[in-house]
Amino acid sequence: MPGRLAGKVAVVTGATAGIGLGIAKRFVKEGATVIFNARRADRGTAAQQQLRQLAQGGEVHFVQADVSVREQVEAVIDRALNGFGRVDALVNNAQRLVTVKPIMVKPDEDYQNALDGGFFASKWAMQRAFPAMRDQGGGSVVNMTSGWAWQAPVNASDYAATKAAIEALTRSAANEWGRYNINVNVIAPYAKSKSWDKYAAANPDAARLSQASNPLKRAGDPEFDLGNLALGLVTEEARFITGQTFDGSGGAFYLRRTHSSTEAWTGKM
Ligand SMILES: NC(=O)c1ccc[n+]([C@@H]2O[C@H](COP(=O)([O-])OP(=O)(O)OC[C@H]3O[C@@H](n4cnc5c(N)ncnc54)[C@H](OP(=O)(O)O)[C@@H]3O)[C@@H](O)[C@H]2O)c1
Repeated sequence: MPGRLAGKVAVVTGATAGIGLGIAKRFVKEGATVIFNARRADRGTAAQQQLRQLAQGGEVHFVQADVSVREQVEAVIDRALNGFGRVDALVNNAQRLVTVKPIMVKPDEDYQNALDGGFFASKWAMQRAFPAMRDQGGGSVVNMTSGWAWQAPVNASDYAATKAAIEALTRSAANEWGRYNINVNVIAPYAKSKSWDKYAAANPDAARLSQASNPLKRAGDPEFDLGNLALGLVTEEARFITGQTFDGSGGAFYLRRTHSSTEAWTGKM
């Protein structure tokens, strides 16, 4: 039986680890050709090898690129367009949590870095992919937010602000692009990843609390839990779903909207 993404071309940013790698795995297993990027080439080569072993008919290509640099994230989209002539699914996943400081001492450049690596990165990739999606008759965009966009975390206002901006961009794009059969949605994930492991190691109490406050009592699996959610949003069956924020946190973010576990970890990342 052909995979659900057979013949489709997907771009997944930041897919050498964590959620991005989980989504890329899920997509290649469904037959998609996947173009992905990250900044570190050695990890890119390793992930490419891993993904090629799982591929079900599609191709897999790594591009070394920093999404916070416009020309570089555009080059990732161009790799798909020049190589395969289309982009059916774009997952703007890459983003790192960089500094942990209260608003009064967090410099403007931290906000700019967070915006460049998240909000602008997503916007630049979407702008580059849009003409192809429009001309080919449709496509899907999945962006990544965080529960911290709503939970007002202490010490991470730059990250929270860029995630809130990504949600607003998602809704506006959904409204502008729906007429071209392009759906645009956003996921708020909570999953095992390199960043999560680093955070949990530095903040064991906060990590335990965070896991205990999740109705399912665990972080998500990048491939099974988040990969399937993203897959569901880029298949033909999801074409009537747009402009929505999906809780990919096992219910933690929506059910515990006021819970924040960032108080204690200034300087610990
Ligand atoms: N894990 C969670 O529970 C959680 C919760 C809320 C939101 N999120 C969001 O979910 C997404 C994935 O998070 P994650 O925890 O899976 O992250 P992760 O484990 O840190 O992996 C991040 C991936 O993105 C790449 N990356 C980071 N910055 C990049 C940049 N500027 N340009 C290109 N690639 C970049 C990394 O590779 P290089 O370092 O080599 O570039 C890596 O492949 C992010 O948008 C994050 O904000 C995650």
